[in-house]
Amino acid sequence: MAEHRPNPRSASGARSALRTAVVWDVLQTELAGIAGTARVVDLGGGTGGFAVRVAELGHQVTVVDPSSDALAALDRRAADADVVGRVRGVQGDASDLPRLVADGVVDASMDVVLCHGVLEVVDDPGGALAAMAAVLRPDGLLSVLVANRLAAVVARALAGHFDQARTLLGASPVDAAEEGDAGTRGPRRYTRDEAVALLREHGFDLRTVHGVRVFTDLVPSPLTEPGAQAALLALERTAADVPELAAVAAQLHLLARRG
Ligand SMILES: C[S@@+](CC[C@H](N)C(=O)[O-])C[C@H]1O[C@@H](n2cnc3c(N)ncnc32)[C@H](O)[C@@H]1O
Repeated sequence: MAEHRPNPRSASGARSALRTAVVWDVLQTELAGIAGTARVVDLGGGTGGFAVRVAELGHQVTVVDPSSDALAALDRRAADADVVGRVRGVQGDASDLPRLVADGVVDASMDVVLCHGVLEVVDDPGGALAAMAAVLRPDGLLSVLVANRLAAVVARALAGHFDQARTLLGASPVDAAEEGDAGTRGPRRYTRDEAVALLREHGFDLRTVHGVRVFTDLVPSPLTEPGAQAALLALERTAADVPELAAVAAQLHLLARRG
């Protein structure tokens, strides 16, 4: 079987480990608590970075993504990892979920839904969350990873773009995505409170919020000191749990249960 875990000895592997370690730690723990084979939907799962790793644990994963290129890469990754029978790609976006359920392509009693890096780009985040709730069984698990607006504020301030930082600080997630001044346009971003409120509005009971990449994007790269990558990874794992630090992490990872 090919090795799909980030290889921390290579520069790209080290960056990938820093991006995924905290989310993967949390997910693995949750998946271990599910008896038997979990049925998982990875909405916007792309090329399967998470989906294939989940399938390697023995679970059954359906990736729903609008990109045919991403789904082709997913198939190749699944074949390399020898999990073809446990990962399937379905072309569609968040708004297609109800139709996929009606057509019997996706079951309406999933154990887990992953939604990583997707609420930033969908047309209607609330609609997407409602559609995800509709495919989860009661008490099913939702894993959401979103960009943190406060991290973008810090990044712009450190780069000397003080007006942009102040504008972004005062923006709502929608303003930041669609109406912001020059320099604030881009994917939708959420503060911790906004992301938590959005999940609660759509019937999810929040379990945990972790910060992902609290320091990684702020330290100069590449890290050349021996052991520095490993030490930064250890620091990220510890910092992820500290609410004050998580509040300014590059991304927020939220785990919630369908109420
Ligand atoms: C930033 S990537 C995240 C990929 C993957 N979830 C991950 O964490 O590595 C965003 C993904 O969302 C997909 N996407 C874009 N618009 C979408 C939509 N409306 N519904 C579902 N997925 C969408 C893209 O094709 C892409 O694969």
